[in-house]
Formats: sequence, structure tokens, C-alpha cells
Amino acid sequence: MAETLLDYETEAAHYDRTRGGVPRAGAAAEAVLSLVPPGARTLLDLACGTGLVTERLTRPGLRVYGADAAHAMLRVAGGRVPGRVVRADARRLPFPDASLDAVGAVWLLHLVPFAAEIVAEAARVLRPGGVLIATVDKDAAHDVGSDIDTVLRPYRSAGAATDRAALITRHAAAHGLAPASGAHFTGHGQGGTPRDTVRKLRAGYFPSWFPGDAAAVDTLATALAALPDQDRPRADPRYRLARFVRQG
Ligand SMILES: C[S@@+](CC[C@H](N)C(=O)[O-])C[C@H]1O[C@@H](n2cnc3c(N)ncnc32)[C@H](O)[C@@H]1O
Repeated sequence: MAETLLDYETEAAHYDRTRGGVPRAGAAAEAVLSLVPPGARTLLDLACGTGLVTERLTRPGLRVYGADAAHAMLRVAGGRVPGRVVRADARRLPFPDASLDAVGAVWLLHLVPFAAEIVAEAARVLRPGGVLIATVDKDAAHDVGSDIDTVLRPYRSAGAATDRAALITRHAAAHGLAPASGAHFTGHGQGGTPRDTVRKLRAGYFPSWFPGDAAAVDTLATALAALPDQDRPRADPRYRLARFVRQG
């Protein structure tokens, strides 16, 4: 089962409403598709969640599948892309070796301590010339340049994000995946407020920043609560998608 601090079995009920909804999902899908090679016939949306992105990954001739570890998220996804979603841990995918043209993973690698295993598994299921497309440096994209960022940044840089671009690139190289050009998308509606950032910190949204350090969370919560305009969202983040090509 997925080892994430956030419980996606309970998140499913309000996930779409709280993650930028259709505008964010549309921007993510468009950016992923821009990195899928023109002749690709299959794309696996890894950690597809509720399928809000998955159902927008449409292109003539491209068949899209979804996989996720959480039952509740998949139930929603199953309604959106019927018959094309499967419950699976991203480390053990029910696809044969070299069977897919593209694997996408939007907002997954920052959540788990085993990103290396996920990259290895993606490399296994990709055919030569196939691409892995994944968000990297996800949490670092939040609130850049804002007063929230000023409070959080010292902790962020001290953290050990599991989706650091340099780290994922190393994992990829170890499994025959070479870096290629990537893309960005706007996290519509994802600009944080001080009050909501405190809530997210306490709910475990940023697991890589404070591994087990409750005192650091308390210190940050106090600093964030002192900021002005507690409920005014700061600028929307720009998330980065990295791309890697499976070598023959
Ligand atoms: C932040 S959500 C992203 C969902 C979707 N990609 C999107 O952009 O809306 C993270 C998803 O990763 C899934 N997940 C976490 N760990 C996983 C694992 N080891 N294998 C498969 N899915 C996993 C969760 O169940 C959740 O649906």
C-alpha cells in the first residue's frame, strides 16, 4: 500500500474541489500531452487519483490508462475513464516489460520515500524511445516570492524533497532513462493563504520538509499566523514536468 502521510482514501471526497479543479487539471493534461511523442499509442497516468487529469489526456490514436493505489480515488477515476483504471502500487505495475509508449506521473514523486523504485518500474514498462513525464520540485514551486515563501524557504532548503530534479535525474539514469526537454503548467487555484498553509502543514501535506519534526511545524505555524491577509491567496504556482527518454 502507498506509504504517504496524507490519506487519499479520505481525500477523495473533496480532492477535485481543493486541488484547482478543472483549470488545474486541464493545464496539467495539456503540458503532459505536449511531452508525449506524436506517434505514441499508449500512455499510463500513474497515480491518476480521481482521473480529473486522466480524462483530459486525449489525443487521436492515444489510449490512456490510469493506475492508483487508493480505492476511493480510483472509484472516482473509474467513473471518468471506465474500464481503463487499475488499482496498483506504482512500484509494481500490472503491465509487461517494454509495453507502453509513455508514463506520466503528476504530483506523485514528492509524496513517497521510494521515488527510485517508481522510476525503475516506469523504465521497465516503457519501450525503447518511450518517455517518463513526471512533476519534480513540486513543493518548492509553492508561494515563490511571497511572504509565505519567506517564512517557509529556510525549512524547504533544509528539507530533502524526494522529487528533487537532480535526484530523479540520477534515478532515471540508473535505469536507462535519459533527460529530455520538459514543460511547466500553472497550478490554477493553488496559490496558498497563510491560514491554509498552516492547515496543510499540520495535515502532513509536505512530508519531505519535516520528517517527524513536530516542533518545526509549530514554529512555522506561529510565524505563518502572524502574516497579514490570512485568507488572501498568493500567486498560483508553476509546476515543472521533467521528461526522460527510455534508451534502447
Ligand atoms: C496528489 S494526488 C495526484 C493525483 C493526480 N495525478 C492529479 O494530478 O490530480 C497523489 C495520488 O498518488 C497516489 N499514490 C500515492 N502513493 C502511491 C503509490 N505508491 N502507488 C500508486 N499511487 C500512489 C494517491 O493515492 C493519490 O491519488
